[in-house]
Amino acid sequence: MSGEEKVMDEQEYVLGTDDDELTRLGLQHELWREVALQGWERGGFRAGHALLDVGCGPGYATFDMTRLVGDEGRVVGVDVSQRFVNHLNAQMEARGLRNVTARMMNVEELDLPVSDFDGAFARWVLCFVSSPAAVVEGVARSLKRGGTFVVQDYCHYEGVTIGPRDGIFGRVFGAVAETWRARGGDPNVGSVVPSLMERCGLEVKEINAISRVARPGTSLWQWPETFFKNYLPTLVDLGSITEVEKKAFENAWQERISDPGSFIITPPMVEVVGIKR
Ligand SMILES: C[S@@+](CC[C@H](N)C(=O)[O-])C[C@H]1O[C@@H](n2cnc3c(N)ncnc32)[C@H](O)[C@@H]1O
Repeated sequence: MSGEEKVMDEQEYVLGTDDDELTRLGLQHELWREVALQGWERGGFRAGHALLDVGCGPGYATFDMTRLVGDEGRVVGVDVSQRFVNHLNAQMEARGLRNVTARMMNVEELDLPVSDFDGAFARWVLCFVSSPAAVVEGVARSLKRGGTFVVQDYCHYEGVTIGPRDGIFGRVFGAVAETWRARGGDPNVGSVVPSLMERCGLEVKEINAISRVARPGTSLWQWPETFFKNYLPTLVDLGSITEVEKKAFENAWQERISDPGSFIITPPMVEVVGIKR
């Protein structure tokens, strides 16, 4: 695992925006694309729609949303990272896509036309913001009546299970959650999203549990693997874990890789589908 020091800008979200994170988000989307597509289906997203990707990152889901809405629709992605927004715009230009734009914007202060979108999607974004209520309120304002907001986010991050168990896993997942909280985030935000939606004029149509099992050698196993490859050095730099704990985690992880009986149940997530009244 790389020991390179990563310089973090205050504006940047806690996982950073460097090349490693850009690549990790791409892989993450590959591994979670089907789950996103199912959410969009339940949200009624379809050809011709105007969709908003809230905290779009480098635009991996945004690109799939443009395919879904087709030439008659349009997609707007917003993210606080100028680097991710530039990446998205460059990719879309290279692909000759004209119906998608990315804008640098804090999702807690959404500055978008009122009643403009048929649907909005926020995946793994609310867990990083200080005021998820402000985000839900802003999204609700930007949706047309009958428009849907689909959220996929953690509701109990530290509820991850790695079998066989080892205390070091709980210690490190706890440290990850703490670093998010230290920057204003909430790794259990999914537990309040339905209430926030109801308070902001969105009727909660569905609440679905999202949980998957990864085993060593499966593609989904790469998800925690790449996450920890990128983030363990940061946890040490931040003083959240010691070098000794990092080594203990790496050793326990290697043991799990060589045990075909190992498994991970991904951190519990919730999918919430709300409709603007
Ligand atoms: C884990 S990434 C998820 C990206 C994308 N939603 C996806 O699922 O691939 C979290 C994203 O939220 C963005 N973000 C975090 N806080 C934000 C804020 N206050 N305003 C806008 N974007 C924010 C980050 O810059 C990052 O791109």
